[in-house]
Amino acid sequence: MNETVVLETERLILRRLTPNDLDDLAALYADPDVMRFYPATRTRAETKQNLDTLIAMYAERGYGLYATVHKADGRFIGRCGLMIQTVHGKEELEVGYMLDKAYWRRGLATEAARALRDWGFRAFGAPRIISLIRPENVPSQGVALKNGMHHGADTVHANLAHRVYAIERETWEGRGGTSDHRGETHVDNSRR
Ligand SMILES: CC(C)(COP(=O)(O)OP(=O)(O)OC[C@H]1O[C@@H](n2cnc3c(N)ncnc32)[C@H](O)[C@@H]1OP(=O)(O)O)[C@@H](O)C(=O)NCCC(=O)NCCS
Repeated sequence: MNETVVLETERLILRRLTPNDLDDLAALYADPDVMRFYPATRTRAETKQNLDTLIAMYAERGYGLYATVHKADGRFIGRCGLMIQTVHGKEELEVGYMLDKAYWRRGLATEAARALRDWGFRAFGAPRIISLIRPENVPSQGVALKNGMHHGADTVHANLAHRVYAIERETWEGRGGTSDHRGETHVDNSRR
């Protein structure tokens, strides 16, 4: 099956999800540790439905959540990407990340998040980029802070309290855009 690589960093490849990713994604969504801050784990059938939605989103939006592959061992280790979220009545571009727990605490989510932030600003003209994070989700807040974001406001998302972490375009440009991101970025041209 044709695999569309969207971004590449020092240690990761982000490529479009395909139906072949069902087993890996279902294993991720079935892990209670990974899903600790989500309403529930997902069954295989629920994962299939979600995977179909995520794949359809590439055509609808030109971006989405991607299979995250660890270059060193070639394994599918999570799904990270860009999503649109409505916060306080406004559409915002969000960086999202989820990794297999065997790969936590190596800076990999930060590496993906920075590449996605840079891509979001460069390719989609976003005035700011956010991450919606539950107050209890300290690991995710650590990633957002390392992604240059600050805790802006609070909101309710999916019926749960969330913090809005955000970085404004001016802040990102003021830091030289890609200065803290060492990886190569390859923008997906397949939708043109
Ligand atoms: C959130 C998640 C993606 C972080 O992935 P990661 O690759 O381990 O994160 P990083 O290694 O880049 O960590 C960045 C920073 O976050 C903080 N952090 C990460 N894990 C942490 C933990 N378990 N406890 C406290 N702080 C933590 C630290 O400040 C860390 O920097 P440091 O290691 O230099 O101290 C991962 O925990 C995960 O997949 N969780 C389940 C899914 C999820 O909650 N996704 C986010 C939804 S908003």
